[in-house]
Formats: sequence, C-alpha cells, structure tokens
Amino acid sequence: MSNAKVKAEIVSKEVEGKDAPWEPRITALVCNWCTYAGADLAGTSRMEYRPNVRIIKLPCTGRIDPLFIIKAFEKGADGVLVSGCHPGDCHYNAGNYHARRRWIGFNSLMEFIGIDMKRLHFSWISASEAIKWVDLVNDVTEEVKKLGPFGEYQDINKDGL
Ligand code: FES
Repeated sequence: MSNAKVKAEIVSKEVEGKDAPWEPRITALVCNWCTYAGADLAGTSRMEYRPNVRIIKLPCTGRIDPLFIIKAFEKGADGVLVSGCHPGDCHYNAGNYHARRRWIGFNSLMEFIGIDMKRLHFSWISASEAIKWVDLVNDVTEEVKKLGPFGEYQDINKDGL
C-alpha cells in the first residue's frame, strides 16, 4: 500500500470518527536495542505507516514470556508481532535464540488454545532497518484485517467463565 493511500485512510478515519470502519489493533513486543530503535528511526525519518500498532518495549526478546502474548489477546489485540535483534546481534548474546526456541514450542500452545497463528508474527529488525519496520507493520495490519476482529476472549468473559 502506498504512503499516500495510508495517509488518506488515516485522515478519513479521523474525519469519520467512531463510524469509521473497523481497524485491527496490533500489539508489538519489541526489544529495546534493535527493533525499537528501528521503529524510532522510522519515526524520526518521518516515514508514514499504519497507525494500528502499539509498541511495548522490552529489554530483549529473550524476556518475552508467552503469557505476554496471551494477555495481549485477552486485552483486545487482534494481532501480535514480536521482533528483536537479528541472530548473532542480541545485546545479551543469546536472548533472541532463546526466544526463537520458545517460539517454536509456543506455536503448538497457540494452536491448542485456538489462536490462528496468522495473528502472530515473529521478525528480526535491526536499528537501521526502519523501512523493514514500516513494511512489517503495514503487512501485518493488512493480514490481520483480512482475518477480522479477534473476539474469542471477549466471548469467554461474556459467559462468565
Ligand atoms: Fe535485542 Fe536481545 S537485545 S533480541
């Protein structure tokens, strides 16, 4: 999607207010040293991208507990993305390797819970890859938008379980 089209959508949503079409909410769990710096670079470079992402900065992807992801869905996220330093670049040497290993085990837990894995994205983005961050956010937003709202947790709570 072109930047102009993204900007037009943002403006139209602001103008239309609460009657605007549904937009997905994406929670991004990112490491401080690489992906957060890349997202910051995108901002300071005035790159435009979809406004659907809320960033939660953590020291390292090795710190990300699978419960953080489940909690994000429980709190209303429609999609979650996890991103950190490229393999070999982790500030704490091996945190991203631990995260990758945990991620593989985590897949089966998500399937067991019934969360479509298309709602979850894992990526490596360095501090200099602002364009990659912009592309990732736009792509993830589009993909989650196709899936529609994620309301399973709200449905469970509605029944008082
Ligand atoms: Fe970035 Fe470990 S510090 S993944």
